[in-house]
Amino acid sequence: PAAPAAPPAAPAAAAAPAAPAAAAAPEALCTRWRATAPLTGGSAYGVTVRVVAADRATEGVVSAALSAQGADIAAPGAPARALVVVAAAPASAATEPDLRGFWEQLREVTAALPPQAKVVWVEHRSAPVDEADRALLDPEAAARAFTVRAAAAEHRFAVAALDLDAGDPAETRARQIAAEFTALRPGVNTAVAYRRGIRYAPEQVPAAPGPATPLDGDGYHLVTGGLGAIGRRLVAHLVRGGARNVGIVGRSPADPGAEEFLAQMRLHAEVDYLRCDVADAAALTDAAASFGRRWGRLLGVVHCSGGVNPFGSLRRRPWSEAARVTAPKVAGSRNVVRLARAQGAGHVALVSSIAGALPHAGRGLVDYALANAYQLALAEQSGDDGTTVTAHAWPNWVGIGMEADDSVAAGHSITLDQALTGFTAHLRTGGGVVFPGTAAPDSVPPPAPTTAPPTTAPARTAPTASAATAPAAPRSTPATRPAAEPAPAPAAAAGLAYTLVRDAFVDVLGEDPGDCPLPDLGLDSLVIVDLTNAIERLGGITVDPSLVMRARTMADLAARLPGPAGAPPAAPQEAAGPGTPDAPPPAPDAGGQPAAPAPDLGALLRPLLVHGQQQGH
Ligand SMILES: NC(=O)c1ccc[n+]([C@@H]2O[C@H](COP(=O)([O-])OP(=O)(O)OC[C@H]3O[C@@H](n4cnc5c(N)ncnc54)[C@H](OP(=O)(O)O)[C@@H]3O)[C@@H](O)[C@H]2O)c1
Repeated sequence: PAAPAAPPAAPAAAAAPAAPAAAAAPEALCTRWRATAPLTGGSAYGVTVRVVAADRATEGVVSAALSAQGADIAAPGAPARALVVVAAAPASAATEPDLRGFWEQLREVTAALPPQAKVVWVEHRSAPVDEADRALLDPEAAARAFTVRAAAAEHRFAVAALDLDAGDPAETRARQIAAEFTALRPGVNTAVAYRRGIRYAPEQVPAAPGPATPLDGDGYHLVTGGLGAIGRRLVAHLVRGGARNVGIVGRSPADPGAEEFLAQMRLHAEVDYLRCDVADAAALTDAAASFGRRWGRLLGVVHCSGGVNPFGSLRRRPWSEAARVTAPKVAGSRNVVRLARAQGAGHVALVSSIAGALPHAGRGLVDYALANAYQLALAEQSGDDGTTVTAHAWPNWVGIGMEADDSVAAGHSITLDQALTGFTAHLRTGGGVVFPGTAAPDSVPPPAPTTAPPTTAPARTAPTASAATAPAAPRSTPATRPAAEPAPAPAAAAGLAYTLVRDAFVDVLGEDPGDCPLPDLGLDSLVIVDLTNAIERLGGITVDPSLVMRARTMADLAARLPGPAGAPPAAPQEAAGPGTPDAPPPAPDAGGQPAAPAPDLGALLRPLLVHGQQQGH
């Protein structure tokens, strides 16, 4: 996610609200934990591992268990090829989240690891394996566990995020850690929990829709970030569904486009906007009190507030920048949930992202992954009152608001109509609901039907910059491939080649050079070799290092990448050209590789996406 979307369509006519276009309910998934077979075999012989724990006793017992498997324990400060971190068991779920220390620790430990490192990260109360766990779930611990997986996806580390039972003896937990460490293979990105000695793994299963939610009751709906791109669509959707009073909050003054949107909404309902930072609990309470004096009780909250930093490596993102992204989704989500519970509202919908659910979707956006993972975990935490909290992990809304990274959007996109159908069906499902989306079905921003309530006022600028760092595939290329066999459209394929190159640069240099001339970067021959290796590793292709040496920019290099092994390099215009979007892509074999020589770069890169999706689930 990043930059504001394509230009808005013309303002919609202010006619009576029209029913939304019929759309099939999108696939919606939730996570269940299932018992799996215990791990057997493996050896950690000769692997140097650094052990970091909250206390010396834990460090000692975990080190002993790893040594028993053949691992060498790295002395403090010495280099290591692997890392085991055991976080302290959460003190109390009531304490305010403090993710700064975690963020700095994650940056430090990942910066010290070589590519292909192994990481085992241990938390407690981070996995809701059963209902009892759900009541004890610590959303902060769950968000940390997921964020480590997103960071590992970014840095190509093998990772196992473990959740252990703090009630088990230290030796038992140390043996579980050592077993997972020993079994961890390159390329694996997984979550595991142990309860009473049984090993559990998460599984995505279909989410049953929640109960129908009438919107037209006495009282008001609160929409945070309701003047943003998605917020406007959801405000219009609530009004269309019968909501009579809607209070919107956001930090900025309403600009003329926002005023026009509000005026159009007011033809159908009472709608007001107040300035308020959702991370400020007192300010949010004041805003709600003001709406309450006018309209009575709070019926429900849709929490859309959020923002994203430019695409960039975790290594280069200090907490001061990350905190801007986490504030509306961590403190802000806690505040809206507290408010809703205090006022007896029926539901809270947290507008979250798949970047908080699929590790590969959080690459280059690890802070955004943390923020969204927190929302999903907060919704999983069970409450014992009448307020249903649901977090929707959305894929890229085609043409609306923040844009997903090309490699993510190519596999995980949803149309406006599908999103609104999914939103209604799962408004009161409870817990985290993931909408994985499909390959971008249509890159054109949805037109504003003349009889619909306004969904069209200008999207306000999000604090983002991925458009500046990646040549996004033109949004106007329709892709007609069937959803069951997703493959990137040719234009998206050019974007994917760029994403591959950019990933390699981020991997090796720790930052995205954007469109900076490569000769200006002063790359020495060692770095050129590393970059060549990274592109080959990530893309499964063979690259002549002289290509990397001669390329003027990352985009130039992406356009010159070769086709499948042995094929001549694609001319720049071929890589970006229209191609044949209707031609069926080659089916991947069991290993995820193309079964036959791929005709275009999209097919060449497809295994990357498929691989990423499998990793994420
Ligand atoms: N667009 C997508 O495809 C997509 C996909 C997945 C998830 N999402 C999620 O959808 C939500 C909305 O995204 P969008 O694309 O509509 O972005 P957007 O156009 O930038 O809207 C975000 C809104 O949040 C408000 N906001 C940000 N920080 C706030 C704060 N601290 N307090 C109060 N309001 C705040 C902004 O207004 P002010 O700046 O005036 O405060 C703005 O109105 C985000 O949470 C995002 O993570 C979007």
